[in-house]
Amino acid sequence: MKTAILVYKSKTGFTKKYAKWIEEELNCNAMELEDAHISEVLKYDIIIFGGGMHANRINGIKFIRDNIELFKNKHIIIFATGATPASAIEEVKKFEQVNIPSGLNIPFFYFQSGMNYKDMRFNDRIMMSSFKFLLSLKRSKNLVEQGTMESISTSYDNSKQKYIEPLIQYVRSL
Ligand SMILES: Cc1cc2nc3c(=O)[nH]c(=O)nc-3n(C[C@H](O)[C@H](O)[C@H](O)COP(=O)(O)O)c2cc1C
Repeated sequence: MKTAILVYKSKTGFTKKYAKWIEEELNCNAMELEDAHISEVLKYDIIIFGGGMHANRINGIKFIRDNIELFKNKHIIIFATGATPASAIEEVKKFEQVNIPSGLNIPFFYFQSGMNYKDMRFNDRIMMSSFKFLLSLKRSKNLVEQGTMESISTSYDNSKQKYIEPLIQYVRSL
């Protein structure tokens, strides 16, 4: 049987919540990126990495990029959490194109989460306020802009445990 480890980076708790659900379901160890020593991670056959979307970048994805050579013989799986609804297929496809190293067939899973202003760092709060302000200045917003405006206005949590199911199935199929 193959062994799996999950490494995650979470700023306001959403990715951590998904990581814990996956950990529970797969009975694997989930650890924060800050605690993940590469020598430990390399002991596993399957490496799952998760991070929150941050201005279209997956937080912490550098960990995968920087170690891609070392992960050559491993199964790498990446997931991201974000405020964008999973039904915004084109947006989610863009997240994948921008973040996932190409040509390596790394599976990517996206889980809708929400916004957590309570646990947000000061800099991120400022960034969100400026973004909201700029959007609010636009007189005629298209559907995406309107949706974005609504999805970042207040704190909410749309994460659901059932969203991890495709990732769980994939790992079990390995
Ligand atoms: C500064 C900032 C930028 C964000 N950028 C995006 C984004 O580009 N796309 C998106 O879908 N969600 C975005 N979000 C929402 C987060 O991705 C979402 O809350 C995510 O689940 C956070 O995960 P974490 O709490 O584990 O860090 C952003 C949130 C903040 C605070």
